[in-house]
Amino acid sequence: MKNAISKFVLTAGLYAAAVFAQTGCSNILVPAHSPPVVASGWQAQLVAGGLTKPRSIAFDSTGALLIVESGKGISRHRFTDNGGTCLASNHSHMLVEMTTLNHGLALSDDGKTLYASSAEAVFAWTYDAPGGSVIGTTRTLVANMSNSDLVTRTLLMSKKQPGMLLVSRGSAEENAAQTEVVTNGLSQIRAFNLTNLTAETAPYNFMNDGLVLGWGLRNSVGVGEHPVTGGIYAVENSVDGVQRNGVDVHENNPGEELNFFGSFNGTAAKNQGKNFGYPHCFAVWQADEIPDNDGLAIGKQFAVRENTTLRDETCAESYVPPRLTFPAHYAPMDIKFSEGGETAYVTFRGSFDRSSPVGYRMSSIAFNAATGEPVAAPDSNDALTDVLTNRDNKACPDGCFRPVGMAFDGAGRLWMSSDSTGEIYVLQRTGESGDGRFVQPDDGGGHENGAAGLWTRERSVLGWSVAAAIGVWLAVF
Ligand SMILES: *[C@@H]1O[C@H](CO)[C@@H](O)[C@H](O)[C@H]1NC(C)=O
Ligand SMILES: *[C@@H]1O[C@H](CO)[C@@H](O)[C@H](O)[C@H]1NC(C)=O
Ligand SMILES: *[C@@H]1O[C@H](CO)[C@@H](O)[C@H](O)[C@H]1NC(C)=O
Ligand SMILES: *[C@@H]1O[C@H](CO)[C@@H](O)[C@H](O)[C@H]1NC(C)=O
Ligand SMILES: *[C@@H]1O[C@H](CO)[C@@H](O)[C@H](O)[C@H]1NC(C)=O
Ligand SMILES: *[C@@H]1O[C@H](CO)[C@@H](O)[C@H](O)[C@H]1NC(C)=O
Repeated sequence: MKNAISKFVLTAGLYAAAVFAQTGCSNILVPAHSPPVVASGWQAQLVAGGLTKPRSIAFDSTGALLIVESGKGISRHRFTDNGGTCLASNHSHMLVEMTTLNHGLALSDDGKTLYASSAEAVFAWTYDAPGGSVIGTTRTLVANMSNSDLVTRTLLMSKKQPGMLLVSRGSAEENAAQTEVVTNGLSQIRAFNLTNLTAETAPYNFMNDGLVLGWGLRNSVGVGEHPVTGGIYAVENSVDGVQRNGVDVHENNPGEELNFFGSFNGTAAKNQGKNFGYPHCFAVWQADEIPDNDGLAIGKQFAVRENTTLRDETCAESYVPPRLTFPAHYAPMDIKFSEGGETAYVTFRGSFDRSSPVGYRMSSIAFNAATGEPVAAPDSNDALTDVLTNRDNKACPDGCFRPVGMAFDGAGRLWMSSDSTGEIYVLQRTGESGDGRFVQPDDGGGHENGAAGLWTRERSVLGWSVAAAIGVWLAVF
């Protein structure tokens, strides 16, 4: 009996010690500001800092992380992987030094071509992933995109239609009227067929070439493709400082948007090539704050200044409404689908002209994997579920992380950049109930968000150590 007990206690103690050793993580980094709040069922950790405005991120075929550092170029980072969220950068170098690169990043299906964008153009390089270097010259694939104000050119390589590169270009805000002519190439997402582009025919001219997936889009910074249906979705940064019939409604209107462009192959493309409303019609978020309101609600668009030719009815008849609407000023930056297509993750960089700051988070949206549609109805006001948030938005933007790019690694972990703080975070699903866990240096591998969590873990480690000691004592004597 004594033997059995001692065996059990010893085994339990050693098991606990092994678990502790496994989750124990040396060289844990400390975030620039208060540690993020992590949703239940998740664990998160800071794994890199000191970067220059990290924007889009992507993993190459060897598992190295590529990061667009805005105004600097593309850097490549390798991490020693100790499991969980315990990762430590062991080698970083600049892959491409090019100060005009500012946001977009993509890799070809075979991982052997690297794409990145400046405000003016999309560039490509032959990429040697194992060697960690680009080979040969910089090629220009798409040009003629310069404009003032909104200068990111998000890139997405379609997985369903290999060789099709999607490029999102925003508005030249001070001259929004230019947007009304589709051949001006502003405020739209176009797709370019790269398989038949040769050195002689390159570059495509953004204004004349490519397939228009959608226009009347103020600034669709995040573009994603549903992995099952191939449906293309983009998250839209809507306008600031909006008035309605002369009344300031900018605090809570218009909403940010999730727009749907149909499946890329065109067969289900009911919205493809259509106009989504900018600069005439905007998504309703807080309907009761919009004056002269005849039945406006979330899921509909409103005219900023109603007149005889442009009324709310015109918005409903002539322009495509959002599939989902998010709170005003959240500033969505990226959208990435889970492998099975049941969840979309969206980063929100946060507000800059709202009296109390909002956004500054990573959220998830539930999707029906088979239909490729969000579960929430278009009039929903709570389609978002928080995954990673700042502790106190009143400290934002200066005292907060500001999420931008996301990428999944080979182990299914979700990585996220914060440009304002120069950081990279990694998130992993644990499925555990209770508070989510942000891994801090002071607890050797993870404490929960609050002090209570820290106590629980430390107490349990202490308890298991005592159990191991008793086991050893029982076994020996
Ligand atoms: C860095 O990490 C990578 C990926 O885990 C590994 O293959 C490589 O050997 C490591 N390099 C060093 C110098 O530790
Ligand atoms: C930009 O596009 C316009 C219209 O097609 C064309 O006239 C102009 O030459 C292009 N500029 C460049 C730099 O490609
Ligand atoms: C792209 O171009 C290639 C070669 O012309 C063609 O076979 C392919 O169908 C095109 N892809 C799309 C989606 O149009
Ligand atoms: C490639 O094929 C597409 C049709 O898929 C066409 O629109 C485009 O002009 C072609 N590009 C070149 C460079 O020939
Ligand atoms: C286009 O995509 C839809 C949705 O995934 C699919 O049902 C259809 O078969 C596809 N068509 C072609 C021609 O690939
Ligand atoms: C109505 O407003 C729209 C958008 O501001 C404008 O383009 C249009 O010219 C206006 N029409 C009239 C009749 O004032």
